[in-house]
Amino acid sequence: MSIKSELLKALADGKYVSGAALAEGLGVSRNAVWKAVKALETEGFVIESSTAKGYRISPENNRLSAELIESGLKTEQIGRRLYVYDEVDSTNSIAKKFASEDAPHGTTVIADMQSAGRGRLGRSFISPSGKGIYVSILVRPTFSLEFASMITTAAAVAGAEAVETLSGHEVGVKWVNDLYMNGKKICGILTEASMGLEMQSLDYAIIGIGINIRSVGTSFDAELKKRASSIEDESGVKVDRNALCSKLLNRIEKYFATIEERGFLEEYRRRELLTGNMITANVGSESIKGVAEGIDDNANLIVRLENGELRHIGSGEANLCRIANN
Ligand code: BTN
Repeated sequence: MSIKSELLKALADGKYVSGAALAEGLGVSRNAVWKAVKALETEGFVIESSTAKGYRISPENNRLSAELIESGLKTEQIGRRLYVYDEVDSTNSIAKKFASEDAPHGTTVIADMQSAGRGRLGRSFISPSGKGIYVSILVRPTFSLEFASMITTAAAVAGAEAVETLSGHEVGVKWVNDLYMNGKKICGILTEASMGLEMQSLDYAIIGIGINIRSVGTSFDAELKKRASSIEDESGVKVDRNALCSKLLNRIEKYFATIEERGFLEEYRRRELLTGNMITANVGSESIKGVAEGIDDNANLIVRLENGELRHIGSGEANLCRIANN
């Protein structure tokens, strides 16, 4: 392991460590520690140094790093094989490639930016550098296919809790996969699954999560800004991107383990934003309008149509699901 990597691990908790203690812990000279600090700064890490106290990772640091994310992990499998990149086309595509090479359950790909981030329904997901986290987690479910739709539901609750804990601001979930703060979308989830040979089971699924964290500035155009935003723009809080990655992965592991008991469904229902509203949606080739009455046990949206008929709509069948402005 390189000195830079060991140094990041030694400083990961954000507390000051003296140059002498670092040198001793790493088995190198104090000059070598200083050189490694300078090299990390050149790579974009923000490190504070004080003659009296030593070095620490600054709370202002916004550089993603596997070492800093790993230091916050409490998981057994999720994120234990972790790849952090500066730039990729799409983390979901990289995770799929790893899946085809037999990478284990929990393998995680994180990028600082995506040049071709993908959203649902063939849309793109704007993923500028330094602004968000773009995370794809490879899962190899052991549960049966009927629970597949629960994967995104579990991820949505995990994401909402992680963002809420670190920002101190309330996060809602818009069925099925969008997280909202102050009425604006701050996170989208795209789960892509691959069927097993018998079609009875999932071979694997990739849970792709994009969270807009730092102020979007000019990276979103005026049209997108009407609907989407970032945690900083909505709450004023500059959430630490590395800490959010760790917290997100910790929660995903917790909820993934309870998929068959639907351990997160009540929390999903509590946060769901369509419930109680008149909504419109396209379901297949049909446009529907009705009151969203809630989420059923399979995470379908229950809608009371204007003719009184009750419909349970699956996540795969609906698009453009919105609160109607009547
Ligand atoms: C949506 O809002 O429609 C879903 C957006 C999902 C974006 C994430 S970012 C990480 C992963 N990689 C991708 O290309 N997409 C997902």
